[in-house]
Amino acid sequence: MTQIVEMKGMNKYFGKLHVLKNIDLTVEQGEVVVIIGASGSGKSTLIRCVNGLEEYENGKLVVDGHALAPKGGNQKSLAEIRKEVGMVFQQFNLFPHLTVRKNVMLAPMKVKSTSQTVANATAERLLDRVGIGNQADKYPSQLSGGQQQRVAIARALAMEPRLMLFDEPTSALDPEMIGEVLDVMRELAREGMTMMVVTHEMGFAREVADRVIYIHEGQIVEQGKPADVFDNPQNERTQAFLSRVLSH
Ligand SMILES: Nc1ncnc2c1ncn2[C@@H]1O[C@H](COP(=O)(O)OP(=O)(O)OP(=O)(O)O)[C@@H](O)[C@H]1O
Ligand SMILES: [Mg+2]
Repeated sequence: MTQIVEMKGMNKYFGKLHVLKNIDLTVEQGEVVVIIGASGSGKSTLIRCVNGLEEYENGKLVVDGHALAPKGGNQKSLAEIRKEVGMVFQQFNLFPHLTVRKNVMLAPMKVKSTSQTVANATAERLLDRVGIGNQADKYPSQLSGGQQQRVAIARALAMEPRLMLFDEPTSALDPEMIGEVLDVMRELAREGMTMMVVTHEMGFAREVADRVIYIHEGQIVEQGKPADVFDNPQNERTQAFLSRVLSH
């Protein structure tokens, strides 16, 4: 098995706040790991460390064979890691002044020197794949939230990532648009993409995750197969959290 992410004894602080505490976590190639936990528990910080959007203080972090040094260390592998890790945010983060097509073409042309012709063909293929091939020449503001988030996924895929990070990709969407984004993610998982997903969509987690991780105050307190974590949580904090979120 190939390890795509390896965290060992990883710690992160925001000033005095100890946000991630001694995190040990490996993600194998093709695995879908869903991260759950209360607001402020450190879920976003954890996945943002994986592509270097947040620096950590000590411990070890290796992404697809590239060691990402702690704060103050040599960050020579950061550019390589960013090429291999796609990220999708709650707020889409599309470039408002570029068409959908250009949003998807930009990174491969800038970062990988892909030709315009090839980048365009890739954009069309990916936009088709996420079900919005007919929207390519619109601007983000002309699309629904669900469509914008699918553009964001296509844009991340255009870099041919080895790993996709999702930070609450459906939390900003109207309820009727959540399903179309989860469908695209479900399809990606089925095709074997390695994924780390922060989400409150427990139905999705139960169906798609290979492993569910519960974080409490910066610590992984429980992890396992979705059926085990959801139906038979061992830790009392996991039990309390799940009874809160599953009851409504
Ligand atoms: N840039 C920052 N500077 C200082 N503190 C921060 C920063 N980002 C996050 N924090 C704090 O770190 C803790 C973890 O934040 P994080 O955003 O990782 O939580 P989360 O589990 O993603 O929460 P949510 O479910 O609300 O998105 C919180 O206490 C938060 O206030
Ligand atoms: Mg968060």
